[in-house]
Amino acid sequence: MQVLTPDIATIRMDFPILDRIVNGHVLAYLDNAASSQMPSVVMEAYADYHRRYHANVHRGVHTLSQEATDAYENARDEVMAFIGAAFREEIVFTTGTTDSINLVAASWGGTFLGEGDRILVSNLEHHANIVPWVRLAETKGARIEVIPITDSGEIDMDAYVRLLPGAKLVAVNHVSNAMGTINPIAEIVRLAKAEGAVTMVDGAQAVPHMAVDVQTIGCDFYAFSTHKICGPTGFGVLYGRKSLLESMPPYRSGGDMILSVSFDRIVYNKVPFLFEAGTPPIAQGIQTGAAIRYLNGIGMDVIAELEHRLLTYATEALSDIDGLRIIGTAADKAAVISFVLDGIHPHDVGTILDEDGIAVRTGHHCAQPVMERYGIPATTRASFAFYNTTGEIERLAASIRRTIQLLR
Ligand code: ALA
Repeated sequence: MQVLTPDIATIRMDFPILDRIVNGHVLAYLDNAASSQMPSVVMEAYADYHRRYHANVHRGVHTLSQEATDAYENARDEVMAFIGAAFREEIVFTTGTTDSINLVAASWGGTFLGEGDRILVSNLEHHANIVPWVRLAETKGARIEVIPITDSGEIDMDAYVRLLPGAKLVAVNHVSNAMGTINPIAEIVRLAKAEGAVTMVDGAQAVPHMAVDVQTIGCDFYAFSTHKICGPTGFGVLYGRKSLLESMPPYRSGGDMILSVSFDRIVYNKVPFLFEAGTPPIAQGIQTGAAIRYLNGIGMDVIAELEHRLLTYATEALSDIDGLRIIGTAADKAAVISFVLDGIHPHDVGTILDEDGIAVRTGHHCAQPVMERYGIPATTRASFAFYNTTGEIERLAASIRRTIQLLR
């Protein structure tokens, strides 16, 4: 019998999908690192925009367009406050973390990186913070150097300090998607700045789970996606230090990123609009504002505490299972547990868990260098959100035991 604290029970009522029956069982959604679920209030923001004030933004004097513009631009202010940016101009709306990093690689990297420049990328990265840099290095003749990680899945800080001198860019995540390691990001950035390196932080797995303040971190760029913070897919944020953004050329070209156009002269718009060519995903921007208000209503510190309790509970429950090895045992972790079972492929684990109504991700988690580091092709990953319960963790443990009985 699942025991819920009253608060979690109330919170769960905000998420209709959590009542869904999957394969005859109530859904236990433990794939939050891939995408979190959406509360009704965020769904309603989408419907309300389409029902009452669906129109384009930044373009019309009519009432609907002004209302849409206000709601969309309010979301920018909400994002700015949510991550502690100093100026609203520092918040560029993109289609997600991947797009944000590609923007930096193409615009900043395309302009300021050159032959022989060194780019440090950690061994913990998601492909989205590897591939754009590898491609850029190929075209520019720059060099990628890998910051190694320890056996527990933490950045090897001594090796990092040795690699740093002369590096132009440090690309690192705040929290590892594959293992949940929380990196000492402010320290990583401080060291990079002392050497004059620019910092690109992939915050996709941090922003959903803790209070993030980009000014405290001190980074130059910080990226995240809204579908991991109870918001919509197809939308994301690039935070960029204002002075840096203002030094960068456009990324994509078209409407909205210009002030005037003739065939022989284009006057560009100011940031952030310079980087936002074309009609944006307006409804998704408005939903992002609603998602942030929802999360603030619970409190990011409360969310961090709830998830930490789940992580502790799940680590104990899973550590009791014979033949289960947790991959990633950093001292400071977000609520993610990646694991392997002796002699059983993660894909089969995921299939049996799904039979029991439990959703997890299996595979390399778009982080193949992490898998290589541990000499494994894949893991099964359970990732928790504040609306998960200890009862769901008990079900996970029982289903893993069933998998072992069936397949070993
Ligand atoms: N980056 C997402 C994950 O880790 C999709 O699952």
